[in-house]
Amino acid sequence: MQSLINISNRLPVVVTDTITASAGGLVSAMDGLRADYDFQWVGWAGAPVEDPERRTEITRELQERFGYTPLFLSEQDVEDFYTGFSNSSLWPLMHYLPSYARYDRRWFDAYKSVNRAFAQSVVERAQHGDMVWVHDYHLMLLPALLRAQRPDLKIGFFLHTPFPSYEIFRCHPNRIELLEGLLGADLIGFHTSDYLRHFRSTVQRILGLASEINTIATETHLVSVGVYPISIPADKFETEMQSQAYHDHLREYRRIYQGKKVVLGVERLDYTKGVPRRLDAIERFLIESGRRDVVFIFISVPSRESVDAYQKLRRDIERKVSKINGELATIENAPIHFIHQSVTFSQLCALYSLADVAMVTPLIDGMNLVAKEYLVCQKDHNGVLILSEFAGAAQELPQATVVNPYNIEQMANALNDALNMPPAERNRRMAPMRRRILRYNARLWAHSFIQDLSSVTEDMRSPNKVLSLSADALKRSMAEGRWGLFLDYDGTLTELRNNPEEAGPDPALEALFILLEKSGLDVYLISGRTRDDMSRWFGNHGFHLIAEHGFYYKHRNAREWIQFEAHVDLEWKNRVADMLFHYADMTPGSFVEEKNASVVWHYRGADVEFGAWKAHQLVIELQELLSNLPVEIHHGSKIVEISSILINNGVILQHLKTLNRYDSVLCAGDDETDESMFRVAGERDISIKVGPGDTAAKYRVTSPAALRDLLSQCLR
Ligand code: UDP
Ligand code: G6P
Repeated sequence: MQSLINISNRLPVVVTDTITASAGGLVSAMDGLRADYDFQWVGWAGAPVEDPERRTEITRELQERFGYTPLFLSEQDVEDFYTGFSNSSLWPLMHYLPSYARYDRRWFDAYKSVNRAFAQSVVERAQHGDMVWVHDYHLMLLPALLRAQRPDLKIGFFLHTPFPSYEIFRCHPNRIELLEGLLGADLIGFHTSDYLRHFRSTVQRILGLASEINTIATETHLVSVGVYPISIPADKFETEMQSQAYHDHLREYRRIYQGKKVVLGVERLDYTKGVPRRLDAIERFLIESGRRDVVFIFISVPSRESVDAYQKLRRDIERKVSKINGELATIENAPIHFIHQSVTFSQLCALYSLADVAMVTPLIDGMNLVAKEYLVCQKDHNGVLILSEFAGAAQELPQATVVNPYNIEQMANALNDALNMPPAERNRRMAPMRRRILRYNARLWAHSFIQDLSSVTEDMRSPNKVLSLSADALKRSMAEGRWGLFLDYDGTLTELRNNPEEAGPDPALEALFILLEKSGLDVYLISGRTRDDMSRWFGNHGFHLIAEHGFYYKHRNAREWIQFEAHVDLEWKNRVADMLFHYADMTPGSFVEEKNASVVWHYRGADVEFGAWKAHQLVIELQELLSNLPVEIHHGSKIVEISSILINNGVILQHLKTLNRYDSVLCAGDDETDESMFRVAGERDISIKVGPGDTAAKYRVTSPAALRDLLSQCLR
């Protein structure tokens, strides 16, 4: 049976002197997978255990009773990794609250080392080809760590928080490492399509990686991305509602709150949950309506009490509650019952059933399960759900009374409307929401994620593999006959840079140049650059040079450049240049480069999305302007180049191959302008595409560094 290793920061257990299983959505969701997989769970034991013997005992018990593997964190790790990086840095940022975010360099070191410890534990127990499912913001580096050590594993990642917009995520000092960590996964899941959209745009803007609606191409693999709104184990709630304990609690609560309307709020005491603003709205409602027959129950579960912001929040809430109760209590009723404790499952279900209204008004929330749990427990469809539009759940539950949690007046009015809503209207809204939650439950959520993870294909996991070329094979081929090497420069031999002026050869390339020169092979450096650039940079090397995509070439021993096609019509150039200069004016960060046989608009320095949109517009305009002229429009890697149709890399390659009687050629390139070489390459030639994307080349390497490596190995 195939294994599935589930990995979350915390194991679903409470470890004290004894070990008790804690329920929760994730546990129930995973229950549905246990029948199909050999199921394991790796996570932090959640308790400070220093004694090695006790650690061994706990490990044995967790393994035997549940199949769980615990990790033990030192006190310092808990402070730096959990309280610090995860909950004081990442959590506020993922929830659009950069003003709460704190940062300490030490925290990131701990975050890395704890993620590495998780990786180690998984690697030790994973069999070849197993699936692993990593959960949440505590473990964002884990997918890449696992992939580096075990490329055979299928790695899924699910984010339980929102993924914020690029404008927020970019604030984080470790934004690059975090994104690269996530992209080690084969599949990344989010609760809503908004979070997915934010992630794609962040990856594009920070890492420069383009994406499709459901995939992101990295250098090594395609990452699938998808939307999987988490749900709740509805059946567990239904079963609980048949228990004696539930009925006893419900009867008791009905007695206590007889003659009153009950409004319920349930949450961890967390600043994302919007409690202070909810209290403001309640105060306003009580003053404006004059009603004294309403009780507001707050179940406020203690959470992350070591984080300063949570301590302060508790003080603020308690102050507000006392003020409201002090001002608005009567002999018979104190309006707010603030309970800073968790309740048992049967008590929770009874409270959900009892409540006339549930107020779920987070400032932001990845999903919010409380909203869904309330619906399931409202069997007679009598309740009203007031739901923040900033909870992920709002996207699935449009029939709720949806409110803006920043708008106190709107929330107060919604409360008033909810308490006065006619039964038929309550029923009309409640029934379809309840139906959805009963059908799309936690198990279905887990199944749909795992099904998508298992259907990730080998082609996606290593798209470059099929076209890979070994140095030995290349060496053997090149030992026979007379060879010409046509190597594109920018993006092929060397990495692309923002400022093309900077792109002279660096030490890594110089080492390869020495090998190429010693090889005695005919090497052509081919480029879209001008003769001046080429002479300046490569004039001292023993290479033949081709400038402006074949318009000029120069034999390695010659002093003069030769114009390949003497009679080229270049009349169109001025008109095109005018248009390009206009685009450069309108697109900050872009510029025009004028060459002898072509004009180029570079937009690498422009805003990614705006630049791509303007480039698209430019190509359409050029196609109209130039429809009857002998020119070609290349939309290459962040450039739009207009050149004569008679000249391109393929034409010059063909010409020089015949002229010099090469038996075979090796050509390598990275963008659209190099495809003309790949198209003319014959059976006995070797064509190599550098980087992702469609190509006519026979082989592919992932990056300039990989090409340099391949050539160096082959020439050594
Ligand atoms: N919950 C709990 N103990 C309580 C009250 C609530 O375990 O005393 C549970 C509740 O049933 C829900 C979870 O805590 O499943 C809260 O999940 P939610 O998605 O609403 O918020 P999160 O805590 O994940 O931010
Ligand atoms: C949120 C997070 C979970 C986390 C839970 C409780 O739901 O997304 O990953 O486990 O809060 O927080 P805690 O810090 O107590 O684990």
